[in-house]
Amino acid sequence: MTETGTIDWKYNESVQSKETLASLDRFTWKEANRARTFHQTFDCYEETPLASLPRLAEHWGIGGVYVKDESYRFGLNAFKVLGGAYAIGRYLADRLDMDIGDLSFERLRSPDIRQRLGEITFVTATDGNHGRGVAWAASQLGQRSVVYMPQGSSPTRLEAIRAAGAEAEIMQWNYDECVRHAARMADEHGWVVVQDTAWEGYEAIPEWIMQGYSTLAIEAIEQLRALGVDKPTHVLLQAGVGSFAGAVTALFASVYGSERPAIVIVEPNKADCLYRSARAGKLQIVTGSMDTIMAGLACGEPNPAAWELLQDYGDLYVSCPDTVAAKGMRMLGNPLGDDPVVISGESGAVTAGLLDQLMTDPALAEAKDRIGLHANSHVLLVSTEGDTDPARYRDVVWDGMFPSFARA
Ligand SMILES: Cc1ncc(COP(=O)(O)O)c(C=O)c1O
Repeated sequence: MTETGTIDWKYNESVQSKETLASLDRFTWKEANRARTFHQTFDCYEETPLASLPRLAEHWGIGGVYVKDESYRFGLNAFKVLGGAYAIGRYLADRLDMDIGDLSFERLRSPDIRQRLGEITFVTATDGNHGRGVAWAASQLGQRSVVYMPQGSSPTRLEAIRAAGAEAEIMQWNYDECVRHAARMADEHGWVVVQDTAWEGYEAIPEWIMQGYSTLAIEAIEQLRALGVDKPTHVLLQAGVGSFAGAVTALFASVYGSERPAIVIVEPNKADCLYRSARAGKLQIVTGSMDTIMAGLACGEPNPAAWELLQDYGDLYVSCPDTVAAKGMRMLGNPLGDDPVVISGESGAVTAGLLDQLMTDPALAEAKDRIGLHANSHVLLVSTEGDTDPARYRDVVWDGMFPSFARA
């Protein structure tokens, strides 16, 4: 069992030797661009910034570090809406018997389309960011949404979801139990589940959600190219159920083939289901309350579709204590020299905290060598959320909650 408080890692040996790898057909540049084209029809669409941090790269002794800052996404402070909005768009396109390529967000809001669709209720379970995205997309389209949040969810995040238009409540269960409740309620009331994880017989919507996340990856690839970086050598991706990491990994594998960057999957100790799956060589589940400050990553059951991709294309799996996320928040919020500030929340900053640890902690030298992190490396991180819980952000960044020195 993983000991809370240490950084544990597993290098995926089999990734080099397997002959048949999971299909990348659904995560090609063309598919990703289809999602981006739909997102580009939203009034609020704007590419999120890619922050280059040359002073930090110099401090670590690497070639470059780049942070895709998803706090700017649609004014919602997190990337998640990309998935929920695209899945709802694809679902409605199917109901209308139309192609998503022929439907803009504006057209979906039009009175004739709304009349053809009638009233639809979308339901989901979420730590916060996904629910806020679903609530926002549903209400923009004049539809209803219901959101169940796990025990211990932040009241601020609950209010943000309500403000985005959903009926939302915090339940007495963990994330995975809330997912099952959402599915039961959908069965009972004829609602549509928009969940960011798949199970047998429920695969289309989670796949559309994953494809929706690809928008940020193609933006990042183009932004890196504009900076003269043809390809990042390393991509660090945080994971809850693994849908985000799976989608981004698959796109990089599809674009760069055997020359793809080294992919590092990062989870909290308390919910490290993908790390454990990598160790066991088969899908593993973590149960219990999963008490971590990385609320967005507090999921114990991997999305099987994401695991299928990650087990073939992910190189290193890392399980981290909360102190790593807290260090990442402080580093990104207080940059060196004239590097730009990135306001990054608990789930957003854990990869920055881990990169610091990989570059400075002799105990992780072997992990660093395995993935070939060195002076010529150009590392891409995604700050998947801003300060979605502002009080907790201040606890950590102002008041020093979860200090690094307590880690030893
Ligand atoms: C901010 C943030 N980052 C990363 C993730 C992880 O995404 P996934 O559950 O698809 O692994 C989440 C999930 O909610 C999140 O909210």
